[in-house]
Amino acid sequence: ADEGMWLPMLIGKNYEQMKKQGFKLTPEDLYSVNKASIKDAIVSFGGFCTGEIVSKNGLIFTNHHCGYDAAASNSTPENNILDNGFYAKSFQEEKPIKGLFVRFLVRMEDVTPKIMAALVGVEEKDKAAKIAEVSKKITSDVTSGTTMEADVRDIYKANQYLLFIYERFNDIRLVGIPSQSIGKFGGDTDNWEWPRQTGDFSVFRVYADANNKSAAYSENNKPYTPKKSLPISIKGIKNGDFSMVYGFPGRTDRYLTSFGVNLATEKTNPTIVKLRDIRLKAWKEEMDKSVDTRLKLSSQYANIANYWKYFIGQTEQLKRLKIQDEKQKQEADFTKWAASSSVNVNLISAYKNAYAAYEPYAVHITYINEGLLASSFIRNANQIGSMIKSMIARKDDAAYLSQVNQNLNVLVNNYQNTYSEIADKKIFAQILTSFYQDVPKSQHPKFITLILEDFWKGSAEASFKNYADHLWEKSNLIDPEKMRTFLSNPSMEALENDPAYKYAVNLVPQDYVKNNFGTVLSDFQTEKNRLDNLYLKALLEKNKGILSYPDANSTMRISYGTIQNYSPKDGITYDIKTTIDGMVAKYQPGDDEFDLPKSLLEAYAKRDFREYAEGGTLPVGFISNNDITGGNSGSPVLNGNGELIGIAFDGNWEAMSGDIAFDKQYKRTISVDIRFVLWCIDVLGGARNIIDELDIRTNKLPVP
Ligand code: ARG
Repeated sequence: ADEGMWLPMLIGKNYEQMKKQGFKLTPEDLYSVNKASIKDAIVSFGGFCTGEIVSKNGLIFTNHHCGYDAAASNSTPENNILDNGFYAKSFQEEKPIKGLFVRFLVRMEDVTPKIMAALVGVEEKDKAAKIAEVSKKITSDVTSGTTMEADVRDIYKANQYLLFIYERFNDIRLVGIPSQSIGKFGGDTDNWEWPRQTGDFSVFRVYADANNKSAAYSENNKPYTPKKSLPISIKGIKNGDFSMVYGFPGRTDRYLTSFGVNLATEKTNPTIVKLRDIRLKAWKEEMDKSVDTRLKLSSQYANIANYWKYFIGQTEQLKRLKIQDEKQKQEADFTKWAASSSVNVNLISAYKNAYAAYEPYAVHITYINEGLLASSFIRNANQIGSMIKSMIARKDDAAYLSQVNQNLNVLVNNYQNTYSEIADKKIFAQILTSFYQDVPKSQHPKFITLILEDFWKGSAEASFKNYADHLWEKSNLIDPEKMRTFLSNPSMEALENDPAYKYAVNLVPQDYVKNNFGTVLSDFQTEKNRLDNLYLKALLEKNKGILSYPDANSTMRISYGTIQNYSPKDGITYDIKTTIDGMVAKYQPGDDEFDLPKSLLEAYAKRDFREYAEGGTLPVGFISNNDITGGNSGSPVLNGNGELIGIAFDGNWEAMSGDIAFDKQYKRTISVDIRFVLWCIDVLGGARNIIDELDIRTNKLPVP
């Protein structure tokens, strides 16, 4: 029921409840190792999203925002598929996407006994290495001599270990994507919110070799014949209907303590939001000036903006729903329950001590990844430095040199793809200035003081700007063209005199954390892991007999519940669905979030909705009370017959605290109605070739 991301292998335990809510199939229909089951139609998409197989020719549906990078990186101002949309009318027109892959889960297995047996007598400090060693043996035993891949992942904070075996496919092609005015309709304004009218879908295809086996890209590859593909229902949905989401949720932290909640709301989240604000504003100004820059930056921009708003919402809702108080009560209750166990009774106070030691450094540590390293030239300078050193050390090893040169080339190309001088320079000085103001002075690295001494201009901000001018003028490691020239004939001396290199190795060395805080961070992580493990073990014992689910960890899960409306606040009820009427009502010509393509407006004017219509209009989005998180994006939403009714793409504002605490009253999954998806492909895209591949189930007569 609503809360819970369940392991498909163990779904039998939930079956009675699922049946009561309207599920009509058997547990074996969902997950089986002996016959084709729905799990065989679900893929991990690129490692960051979910996709579902919807045809006998390996067609995949996922979200627009999951295919965004594929579309953006294949767009140019002249052939702009991101802005204009794209539908292949034949296999030949489909676009191979370099680096994109999908993984099918072959099976999962509990390997806890194997891991635990290997840990007997192993000292605490050696356990991590032992676990890695045994996991490696377990995975190589099952994959050697096959095309399979495997991972061992822990659940319940290392109280249980599962083996996951996957088949990976590396030839994935873009088949169709709506214009971003449809696929990202509502932009960041509507992101994480309901009501919503976003056509957040895209279409890809898996290719395989002549034997239907996984293979690197080749012109000769053929559409993959899957074990299972999902039928699609355009029969319609209503409040209270059974709904199920099947996919790869990335990460939840449902067992986070009150101390962790406090750290997030008071320190970490506000710091992340502030630093992302700086980046987003600087980038947006540049993106608005040229289509070329916009295409270059928009995929990264969308990712940064997505979690910028996420952290704003998470903070707001953790506070509104008083999650810290709620957790405190649970912890007091736990300590009472644990009175007879000398270990458990002290757990909560041990958490308190660990967080107290870490907290003074939390802002500074957040600044490293979200601030200092946001300037990508710094990462590069460090990396280039070690590559050049290794080239000098092995100057007679021609094969090695050519490999490193190749890597350097890739690095410079990737960097150039997202480099914008003005934007990068602006954020560099702004971020250093806020670092200077927000991080306790006692923690400032010496190099900061040296910069201010050498480049002083009356204020910290003016001085950092002055320093930025110096870096951009003198360094060979910031401007991509200068970088190429420098790398064509590098010398150690020039490298060591380069001001950007000096900055990178002094201020943001690879072992920054160790250099600047000693063992504060690693001590905290080690202690938190130890406590989490004990806390979960105790909680599982305390809740014996109650079904409980593990936190998301990018492994396959099922969430079931119902299509469900909700009340965001007193006096208001949000309906389960939105329509194209609501979409057109929000239309703002020329706006970068609420524009719509002419083709949509024309079809709308004629009310050309065909068999996808309901009640005289076209459904666009709907909500259900399923439990999802990032990584689930693109997951199929299935009805009680296992038919596809929508593609999940978001969560709602009132429950943004959901990754830390699930709220039954407020938490909803936002999906795009499959009828809107099909309408875009068919009516706007004119891609009958795609529609004809699908197994569409309807109770209406087709429109002639
Ligand atoms: N919030 C969505 C998610 O994380 C992503 C939506 C992408 N759209 C956007 N406007 N950034 O699942």
